[in-house]
Amino acid sequence: MPRIANLYFKTAIIFLILGISIGLHMSISGNHAATGAHAHANLLGWVTMAIFGGYHALNPQKAARRLAMVQYAVYTFGVTVLIPSLYLMLSGNAAMEPIVAASSLIAFAGVLLFAVIIFSSSEQVTAAASPAR
Ligand code: HEM
Repeated sequence: MPRIANLYFKTAIIFLILGISIGLHMSISGNHAATGAHAHANLLGWVTMAIFGGYHALNPQKAARRLAMVQYAVYTFGVTVLIPSLYLMLSGNAAMEPIVAASSLIAFAGVLLFAVIIFSSSEQVTAAASPAR
């Protein structure tokens, strides 16, 4: 499996553990205020990152590009800041709102970069990576 795919799955499982922990905490306490943080940890973290990792596993030429690592860094940074700040905001800390807003935009930028990866041609990548004959 390409390194970036492995990295995405490792990051994704951490978000699933975090997302389920928030879900269990809400269930046990009966306080569902953090539903948004739970849902986004599971969906932007576990589900989306696993799909990104699966795409890279199926496209090893694209996975080897520098853009793949840049996209991982941008998206993961955005989601990693978003989840705890959203959790705190939904728990009553209104001062977190600008951080939630900024990190949401960073995560969205990561999604747009993934769109660039998807729409780029893997043939072009192969040609550029091949040594000149
Ligand atoms: C043991 C695992 C889980 C527990 C204990 C749990 C618990 C909860 C709880 C207590 C709520 C709030 C429900 C409400 O207030 O109406 C919730 C909402 C939600 N959960 Fe989970 N959850 C778990 C796993 C997951 C997973 C794996 C996903 C997604 C991959 C997920 C996605 C969602 C979504 C999208 C909502 C919002 C639903 C809505 O507002 O209509 N959950 N969960």
